[in-house]
Amino acid sequence: MILLSGPNIGGNEWKYIKDCLDTGWVSSVGAYVTQFEQMVAEFAGARFGVATSSGTTALHMALLLEEVQADDYVIVPNVTFVASVNSIRYVGARPILMDIDPLTWQMDLDLLADFLAEKTELRDGECCHRADGRRVRAIMPVHVLGNMADMERLMGLAAQYHLRVIEDATESLGSYFKGKHSGTFSRMGCFSFNGNKIITTGGGGMIVTDDEALARKAKHLTTQAKADSFEYYHDEVGYNYRLVNTSAAMGVAQMEQLPGFIERKHAIAAIYKEGLSGVGDIGFQEVAPEVEPNWWLFTIHTERQREVLERLNAHQMQSRPFWVPMNQLPMYREFPYIQTADHSDRVYRTALSIPCSTNITDSELEQIIGKIRECY
Ligand SMILES: Cc1ncc(COP(=O)(O)O)c(C=O)c1O
Repeated sequence: MILLSGPNIGGNEWKYIKDCLDTGWVSSVGAYVTQFEQMVAEFAGARFGVATSSGTTALHMALLLEEVQADDYVIVPNVTFVASVNSIRYVGARPILMDIDPLTWQMDLDLLADFLAEKTELRDGECCHRADGRRVRAIMPVHVLGNMADMERLMGLAAQYHLRVIEDATESLGSYFKGKHSGTFSRMGCFSFNGNKIITTGGGGMIVTDDEALARKAKHLTTQAKADSFEYYHDEVGYNYRLVNTSAAMGVAQMEQLPGFIERKHAIAAIYKEGLSGVGDIGFQEVAPEVEPNWWLFTIHTERQREVLERLNAHQMQSRPFWVPMNQLPMYREFPYIQTADHSDRVYRTALSIPCSTNITDSELEQIIGKIRECY
Protein backbone atom coordinates (compact mmCIF):
# COMPACT_ATOMS: atom_id res chain seq x y z
CA MET A 1 0.00 0.00 0.00
CA ILE A 2 1.33 3.45 -0.86
CA LEU A 3 0.25 5.45 2.19
CA LEU A 4 -1.67 8.71 1.96
CA SER A 5 0.58 10.59 4.37
CA GLY A 6 2.61 8.21 6.48
CA PRO A 7 5.45 8.82 8.90
CA ASN A 8 9.00 9.16 7.61
CA ILE A 9 11.30 7.80 10.27
CA GLY A 10 14.79 8.05 8.89
CA GLY A 11 16.76 10.15 11.34
CA ASN A 12 17.73 9.96 15.00
CA GLU A 13 14.38 8.61 16.24
CA TRP A 14 15.79 5.25 17.36
CA LYS A 15 18.78 6.86 19.03
CA TYR A 16 16.81 9.44 21.02
CA ILE A 17 14.02 7.06 22.04
CA LYS A 18 16.64 4.49 23.09
CA ASP A 19 18.23 7.21 25.19
CA CYS A 20 14.89 7.65 27.01
CA LEU A 21 14.60 3.90 27.56
CA ASP A 22 18.20 3.58 28.70
CA THR A 23 17.93 6.44 31.17
CA GLY A 24 14.39 5.71 32.36
CA TRP A 25 13.10 9.15 31.34
CA VAL A 26 10.03 7.72 29.62
CA SER A 27 7.21 9.73 31.13
CA SER A 28 5.88 13.24 31.25
CA VAL A 29 9.02 15.14 32.15
CA GLY A 30 12.43 15.02 30.54
CA ALA A 31 14.99 16.94 28.56
CA TYR A 32 13.48 16.01 25.19
CA VAL A 33 10.18 17.67 26.09
CA THR A 34 11.94 20.97 26.72
CA GLN A 35 14.14 20.61 23.66
CA PHE A 36 11.19 19.77 21.43
CA GLU A 37 9.23 22.76 22.74
CA GLN A 38 12.16 25.04 22.01
CA MET A 39 12.72 23.62 18.53
CA VAL A 40 9.11 24.00 17.41
CA ALA A 41 8.76 27.47 18.93
CA GLU A 42 11.99 28.62 17.32
CA PHE A 43 11.04 27.16 13.96
CA ALA A 44 7.69 28.95 14.03
CA GLY A 45 9.23 32.19 15.29
CA ALA A 46 7.39 32.13 18.62
CA ARG A 47 8.95 32.67 22.04
CA PHE A 48 7.43 29.67 23.82
CA GLY A 49 6.13 26.21 23.06
CA VAL A 50 4.09 24.03 25.40
CA ALA A 51 3.92 20.40 24.31
CA THR A 52 0.59 18.61 24.69
CA SER A 53 -0.68 15.08 24.28
CA SER A 54 -2.39 15.92 20.98
CA GLY A 55 -3.47 18.75 18.70
CA THR A 56 -6.98 18.36 20.08
CA THR A 57 -5.85 18.89 23.68
CA ALA A 58 -3.75 21.88 22.54
CA LEU A 59 -6.91 23.42 21.06
CA HIS A 60 -8.95 22.65 24.17
CA MET A 61 -6.28 24.25 26.33
CA ALA A 62 -6.05 27.36 24.14
CA LEU A 63 -9.84 27.83 24.32
CA LEU A 64 -9.68 27.56 28.11
CA LEU A 65 -6.86 30.07 28.25
CA GLU A 66 -8.80 32.52 26.08
CA GLU A 67 -11.60 32.15 28.60
CA VAL A 68 -14.13 30.92 26.08
CA GLN A 69 -17.11 30.01 28.19
CA ALA A 70 -20.19 27.86 28.00
CA ASP A 71 -22.71 29.27 25.53
CA ASP A 72 -20.21 31.64 23.92
CA TYR A 73 -20.04 31.42 20.14
CA VAL A 74 -16.81 30.56 18.36
CA ILE A 75 -16.60 31.04 14.60
CA VAL A 76 -14.92 28.12 12.82
CA PRO A 77 -14.76 26.99 9.18
CA ASN A 78 -17.38 24.46 8.17
CA VAL A 79 -14.72 22.40 6.43
CA THR A 80 -12.20 21.12 8.92
CA PHE A 81 -11.29 17.96 10.75
CA VAL A 82 -13.92 17.39 13.44
CA ALA A 83 -11.45 17.96 16.31
CA SER A 84 -11.53 21.74 15.79
CA VAL A 85 -15.24 21.91 16.45
CA ASN A 86 -15.18 19.25 19.14
CA SER A 87 -12.69 21.33 21.12
CA ILE A 88 -15.17 24.22 21.05
CA ARG A 89 -17.82 21.94 22.50
CA TYR A 90 -15.43 20.71 25.24
CA VAL A 91 -15.67 24.16 26.84
CA GLY A 92 -19.43 24.20 26.30
CA ALA A 93 -19.22 26.88 23.61
CA ARG A 94 -21.26 26.87 20.40
CA PRO A 95 -19.74 26.78 16.93
CA ILE A 96 -20.81 29.18 14.20
CA LEU A 97 -19.89 27.26 11.07
CA MET A 98 -18.58 29.56 8.35
CA ASP A 99 -18.53 28.40 4.75
CA ILE A 100 -15.24 28.26 2.89
CA ASP A 101 -13.76 30.08 -0.04
CA PRO A 102 -14.42 27.84 -3.08
CA LEU A 103 -10.87 28.19 -4.37
CA THR A 104 -8.56 28.13 -1.34
CA TRP A 105 -10.89 26.06 0.92
CA GLN A 106 -10.12 28.33 3.88
CA MET A 107 -12.74 30.24 5.88
CA ASP A 108 -14.50 32.72 3.54
CA LEU A 109 -13.48 36.11 4.91
CA ASP A 110 -16.04 38.08 2.85
CA LEU A 111 -18.75 35.97 4.41
CA LEU A 112 -17.17 36.43 7.84
CA ALA A 113 -17.04 40.23 7.40
CA ASP A 114 -20.69 40.36 6.27
CA PHE A 115 -21.77 38.15 9.13
CA LEU A 116 -20.00 40.26 11.75
CA ALA A 117 -21.39 43.49 10.25
CA GLU A 118 -24.96 42.30 9.86
CA LYS A 119 -25.53 39.80 12.64
CA THR A 120 -23.46 41.05 15.55
CA GLU A 121 -23.12 44.22 17.59
CA LEU A 122 -20.86 45.42 20.38
CA ARG A 123 -22.52 45.50 23.79
CA ASP A 124 -20.33 46.80 26.63
CA GLY A 125 -17.30 46.17 24.48
CA GLU A 126 -18.23 42.57 23.73
CA CYS A 127 -19.32 41.17 20.41
CA CYS A 128 -22.83 39.72 20.70
CA HIS A 129 -25.04 37.87 18.30
CA ARG A 130 -27.96 40.20 17.61
CA ALA A 131 -30.55 37.43 17.37
CA ASP A 132 -30.00 35.68 20.71
CA GLY A 133 -27.65 38.01 22.60
CA ARG A 134 -25.01 35.33 23.14
CA ARG A 135 -21.42 36.50 23.20
CA VAL A 136 -19.28 35.79 20.15
CA ARG A 137 -15.97 35.22 21.83
CA ALA A 138 -13.49 33.98 19.28
CA ILE A 139 -12.60 32.96 15.75
CA MET A 140 -10.79 29.71 15.15
CA PRO A 141 -9.23 29.85 11.68
CA VAL A 142 -8.02 26.46 10.48
CA HIS A 143 -5.11 26.42 8.04
CA VAL A 144 -6.72 23.66 6.05
CA LEU A 145 -4.25 21.32 4.36
CA GLY A 146 -1.43 23.73 5.19
CA ASN A 147 -2.90 26.55 3.09
CA MET A 148 -3.83 29.85 4.75
CA ALA A 149 -6.47 32.57 4.53
CA ASP A 150 -5.54 36.27 4.50
CA MET A 151 -4.46 36.35 8.14
CA GLU A 152 -3.93 40.11 8.17
CA ARG A 153 -7.52 40.67 7.19
CA LEU A 154 -8.77 38.05 9.64
CA MET A 155 -6.80 39.56 12.52
CA GLY A 156 -8.10 43.02 11.54
CA LEU A 157 -11.70 41.81 11.69
CA ALA A 158 -11.04 40.14 15.05
CA ALA A 159 -9.63 43.39 16.45
CA GLN A 160 -12.53 45.43 15.08
CA TYR A 161 -15.10 43.15 16.72
CA HIS A 162 -13.13 42.46 19.92
CA LEU A 163 -12.75 38.78 19.19
CA ARG A 164 -10.05 36.43 20.36
CA VAL A 165 -8.32 34.27 17.74
CA ILE A 166 -7.11 30.73 18.26
CA GLU A 167 -5.30 29.34 15.25
CA ASP A 168 -5.82 25.71 14.45
CA ALA A 169 -2.41 25.38 12.84
CA THR A 170 -2.39 21.61 13.28
CA GLU A 171 -1.82 20.96 9.58
CA SER A 172 0.44 23.88 8.80
CA LEU A 173 3.87 23.45 10.34
CA GLY A 174 6.06 25.02 7.66
CA SER A 175 3.35 27.33 6.18
CA TYR A 176 3.66 31.10 6.00
CA PHE A 177 1.51 34.12 5.24
CA LYS A 178 3.67 37.05 4.04
CA GLY A 179 6.68 35.31 5.54
CA LYS A 180 5.12 34.92 8.99
CA HIS A 181 4.66 31.39 10.22
CA SER A 182 1.19 29.96 10.80
CA GLY A 183 0.14 29.81 14.44
CA THR A 184 1.92 33.07 15.30
CA PHE A 185 -0.72 35.59 14.25
CA SER A 186 -2.93 35.06 17.29
CA ARG A 187 -1.92 34.85 20.94
CA MET A 188 -1.84 31.06 20.66
CA GLY A 189 -1.45 28.68 17.75
CA CYS A 190 -1.90 24.91 18.00
CA PHE A 191 0.03 22.22 16.14
CA SER A 192 -0.52 18.48 15.82
CA PHE A 193 2.08 15.73 15.49
CA ASN A 194 -0.35 12.95 14.75
CA GLY A 195 0.99 10.13 12.54
CA ASN A 196 -0.18 11.69 9.29
CA LYS A 197 1.26 15.17 9.90
CA ILE A 198 4.40 16.64 8.34
CA ILE A 199 6.34 15.61 11.43
CA THR A 200 5.03 13.09 13.93
CA THR A 201 5.55 12.07 17.53
CA GLY A 202 3.09 9.20 17.14
CA GLY A 203 0.52 11.43 18.80
CA GLY A 204 1.14 14.87 20.21
CA GLY A 205 0.60 18.57 19.89
CA MET A 206 1.88 21.96 20.90
CA ILE A 207 0.72 25.45 21.73
CA VAL A 208 3.04 28.23 20.62
CA THR A 209 2.81 31.72 22.04
CA ASP A 210 4.87 34.87 22.59
CA ASP A 211 3.19 35.47 25.92
CA GLU A 212 5.17 34.15 28.85
CA ALA A 213 2.24 34.23 31.27
CA LEU A 214 0.09 32.23 28.86
CA ALA A 215 2.87 29.70 28.33
CA ARG A 216 3.25 29.27 32.08
CA LYS A 217 -0.48 28.91 32.52
CA ALA A 218 -0.65 26.35 29.70
CA LYS A 219 2.13 24.31 31.31
CA HIS A 220 0.38 24.53 34.66
CA LEU A 221 -3.05 23.49 33.42
CA THR A 222 -1.69 20.65 31.28
CA THR A 223 0.16 19.35 34.38
CA GLN A 224 -2.92 18.87 36.60
CA ALA A 225 -2.54 22.45 37.91
CA LYS A 226 -0.03 21.19 40.46
CA ALA A 227 1.05 24.28 42.36
CA ASP A 228 3.72 22.85 44.63
CA SER A 229 6.79 20.90 43.53
CA PHE A 230 6.64 18.63 46.59
CA GLU A 231 3.11 18.49 47.93
CA TYR A 232 0.10 17.42 45.93
CA TYR A 233 -1.43 20.83 46.08
CA HIS A 234 -3.49 21.77 43.03
CA ASP A 235 -4.94 25.24 42.74
CA GLU A 236 -7.57 24.63 40.04
CA VAL A 237 -9.07 21.94 37.86
CA GLY A 238 -6.16 20.80 35.73
CA TYR A 239 -5.62 18.28 32.97
CA ASN A 240 -3.13 15.55 32.20
CA TYR A 241 -2.42 16.84 28.71
CA ARG A 242 1.37 16.49 28.70
CA LEU A 243 3.49 14.97 25.98
CA VAL A 244 5.75 12.19 27.22
CA ASN A 245 9.52 12.32 26.87
CA THR A 246 9.71 9.32 24.49
CA SER A 247 7.30 11.05 22.10
CA ALA A 248 9.20 14.32 22.44
CA ALA A 249 12.44 12.45 21.67
CA MET A 250 10.87 11.33 18.42
CA GLY A 251 9.73 14.92 17.85
CA VAL A 252 13.28 16.24 18.23
CA ALA A 253 14.52 13.75 15.64
CA GLN A 254 11.66 14.69 13.33
CA MET A 255 12.29 18.42 13.75
CA GLU A 256 15.89 17.86 12.64
CA GLN A 257 14.46 16.60 9.35
CA LEU A 258 11.65 19.12 8.92
CA PRO A 259 13.34 21.38 6.33
CA GLY A 260 13.89 18.32 4.11
CA PHE A 261 10.29 17.17 4.64
CA ILE A 262 8.94 20.57 3.60
CA GLU A 263 11.15 20.59 0.53
CA ARG A 264 9.87 17.14 -0.41
CA LYS A 265 6.21 18.17 0.08
CA HIS A 266 6.81 21.09 -2.28
CA ALA A 267 8.45 18.80 -4.84
CA ILE A 268 5.55 16.30 -4.62
CA ALA A 269 3.03 19.10 -5.23
CA ALA A 270 5.01 20.29 -8.25
CA ILE A 271 5.20 16.76 -9.72
CA TYR A 272 1.46 16.20 -9.27
CA LYS A 273 0.58 19.58 -10.72
CA GLU A 274 2.69 18.96 -13.77
CA GLY A 275 1.44 15.42 -14.24
CA LEU A 276 -2.25 16.17 -13.70
CA SER A 277 -2.73 19.65 -15.20
CA GLY A 278 -5.10 19.51 -18.13
CA VAL A 279 -6.21 15.95 -17.33
CA GLY A 280 -10.00 15.89 -17.61
CA ASP A 281 -11.58 18.35 -15.22
CA ILE A 282 -8.91 17.94 -12.53
CA GLY A 283 -8.15 21.09 -10.57
CA PHE A 284 -6.12 21.98 -7.48
CA GLN A 285 -6.60 23.89 -4.28
CA GLU A 286 -5.59 27.50 -5.01
CA VAL A 287 -3.01 29.34 -3.00
CA ALA A 288 -2.90 33.13 -2.65
CA PRO A 289 0.39 34.77 -3.70
CA GLU A 290 1.09 35.87 -0.10
CA VAL A 291 0.88 32.28 1.14
CA GLU A 292 3.69 29.77 1.15
CA PRO A 293 1.96 26.50 2.07
CA ASN A 294 3.70 23.39 3.39
CA TRP A 295 1.69 21.30 0.87
CA TRP A 296 0.93 18.93 3.73
CA LEU A 297 -1.75 16.82 2.05
CA PHE A 298 -2.02 17.04 -1.70
CA THR A 299 -5.67 17.25 -2.73
CA ILE A 300 -7.20 17.49 -6.17
CA HIS A 301 -10.80 18.10 -7.20
CA THR A 302 -12.81 16.49 -9.96
CA GLU A 303 -16.42 15.61 -10.70
CA ARG A 304 -15.22 12.01 -10.97
CA GLN A 305 -14.03 11.95 -7.39
CA ARG A 306 -15.53 8.57 -6.45
CA GLU A 307 -14.28 6.83 -9.57
CA VAL A 308 -10.72 8.12 -9.05
CA LEU A 309 -10.85 7.22 -5.36
CA GLU A 310 -11.99 3.71 -6.09
CA ARG A 311 -9.40 3.15 -8.76
CA LEU A 312 -6.51 4.40 -6.63
CA ASN A 313 -7.54 2.45 -3.54
CA ALA A 314 -8.07 -0.69 -5.64
CA HIS A 315 -4.44 -0.35 -6.70
CA GLN A 316 -3.15 0.04 -3.15
CA MET A 317 -2.70 3.81 -3.53
CA GLN A 318 -4.33 5.09 -0.38
CA SER A 319 -6.62 8.01 -1.17
CA ARG A 320 -9.30 9.72 0.86
CA PRO A 321 -12.34 11.89 0.27
CA PHE A 322 -12.42 15.28 1.99
CA TRP A 323 -14.03 15.67 5.43
CA VAL A 324 -17.82 15.57 5.57
CA PRO A 325 -18.68 19.25 6.27
CA MET A 326 -19.42 19.97 9.91
CA ASN A 327 -22.98 21.13 9.25
CA GLN A 328 -23.75 17.65 7.89
CA LEU A 329 -22.64 15.82 11.06
CA PRO A 330 -25.43 14.84 13.44
CA MET A 331 -24.06 16.67 16.48
CA TYR A 332 -23.46 19.93 14.60
CA ARG A 333 -26.61 20.18 12.49
CA GLU A 334 -28.34 22.38 15.02
CA PHE A 335 -25.66 25.09 14.99
CA PRO A 336 -25.67 28.10 12.66
CA TYR A 337 -24.14 27.47 9.26
CA ILE A 338 -23.34 30.71 7.46
CA GLN A 339 -23.29 30.30 3.69
CA THR A 340 -24.59 31.67 0.44
CA ALA A 341 -23.70 28.84 -1.93
CA ASP A 342 -22.68 25.89 0.27
CA HIS A 343 -19.18 25.66 -1.15
CA SER A 344 -18.38 23.20 1.64
CA ASP A 345 -20.66 20.59 0.13
CA ARG A 346 -19.28 21.09 -3.35
CA VAL A 347 -15.68 20.71 -2.17
CA TYR A 348 -16.68 17.66 -0.14
CA ARG A 349 -18.19 16.05 -3.22
CA THR A 350 -15.29 16.77 -5.56
CA ALA A 351 -12.06 16.83 -3.53
CA LEU A 352 -9.80 13.88 -2.86
CA SER A 353 -6.42 13.61 -1.20
CA ILE A 354 -3.79 11.49 -2.89
CA PRO A 355 -0.60 9.87 -1.55
CA CYS A 356 2.06 12.37 -0.57
CA SER A 357 4.16 10.96 2.27
CA THR A 358 7.55 12.64 2.34
CA ASN A 359 9.21 9.28 1.64
CA ILE A 360 7.14 8.48 -1.45
CA THR A 361 9.36 7.90 -4.48
CA ASP A 362 9.16 9.73 -7.80
CA SER A 363 8.38 6.44 -9.47
CA GLU A 364 5.41 5.87 -7.13
CA LEU A 365 4.19 9.39 -7.94
CA GLU A 366 4.40 8.58 -11.66
CA GLN A 367 2.41 5.36 -11.12
CA ILE A 368 -0.30 7.28 -9.27
CA ILE A 369 -0.45 9.95 -11.97
CA GLY A 370 -0.74 7.17 -14.55
CA LYS A 371 -3.61 5.53 -12.68
CA ILE A 372 -5.48 8.82 -12.39
CA ARG A 373 -4.97 9.55 -16.07
CA GLU A 374 -6.51 6.16 -16.92
CA CYS A 375 -9.81 7.38 -15.47
CA TYR A 376 -10.03 10.05 -18.15
C1 LIG B 1 -7.59 20.57 11.32
C2 LIG B 1 -7.25 19.68 12.47
N1 LIG B 1 -7.59 20.06 13.71
C3 LIG B 1 -7.27 19.32 14.79
C4 LIG B 1 -6.59 18.13 14.66
C5 LIG B 1 -6.37 17.32 15.89
O1 LIG B 1 -5.05 16.94 16.09
P1 LIG B 1 -4.75 15.56 16.87
O2 LIG B 1 -5.11 14.45 15.98
O3 LIG B 1 -3.28 15.66 17.13
O4 LIG B 1 -5.55 15.59 18.13
C6 LIG B 1 -6.21 17.69 13.38
C7 LIG B 1 -5.45 16.46 13.10
O5 LIG B 1 -5.55 15.37 13.44
C8 LIG B 1 -6.56 18.47 12.26
O6 LIG B 1 -6.24 18.07 11.02
